[in-house]
Amino acid sequence: MLKIAPSILAADPLNLEADTRRLRDAGCDWFHVDVMDAHFVPNLSFGPEIVRALRRRYPEMPLDVHLMMDNPESYIDCFAEAGATGITIHAEIPGDVAEVLRAIRAAGCYAGLSLKPDTPAEAAMPYLSLMDLCLIMTVEPGFGGQELRLDTLPKLRALREEGFTGLIEADGGLKLRNLPLLIERGLDVAVIGTGLFRTEDPAEKIRAMRALALPG
Ligand code: DX5
Ligand code: ZN
Repeated sequence: MLKIAPSILAADPLNLEADTRRLRDAGCDWFHVDVMDAHFVPNLSFGPEIVRALRRRYPEMPLDVHLMMDNPESYIDCFAEAGATGITIHAEIPGDVAEVLRAIRAAGCYAGLSLKPDTPAEAAMPYLSLMDLCLIMTVEPGFGGQELRLDTLPKLRALREEGFTGLIEADGGLKLRNLPLLIERGLDVAVIGTGLFRTEDPAEKIRAMRALALPG
């Protein structure tokens, strides 16, 4: 079943508890936490204390932490200790991707690898056995509210054709209207920011998104 992972980057920072409770009550599957270091991407967002607070408030909710950082290797243990369920790093980091993916699993989290829009699917191929999830960025990372880039969609199928058996996740510009394009290419997890935090009825939106993934 398609998993819906609201990106808390799109939440109202002054009402994070109310906004996340609203989406938890609306039936989302995960919370996606976009961590940005103002260097790897031109924005600065959350630290591990937000993950700790989310874990305390929602003990059962999977926390899908997306590290858009140059040096994620220095932060694996602190995000794992804060309560991350999974940690995703980028294939474009200067460090040793295989080593960081191993460190994420050693810390007890599922390991994800993310590809920026201009990074080809081939960049993930050396790491398929080390990753539990592949996050396809469908916008240039850094800001919510952007338009999905259609040229990123072929990567979903390319991963499956190369034998990747983990979860395929997409992040950026996902809406009810374009979700079918990703579902038909094998999407497992949809990261949705403004499309869920800025809607009157998130429960209805989540139901409609899930219905798109039902057979027939
Ligand atoms: C970009 C961010 C956004 C966010 C999703 O780095 O990661 O993609 O999560 O925001 P929307 O759904 O508004 O594009
Ligand atoms: Zn993200």
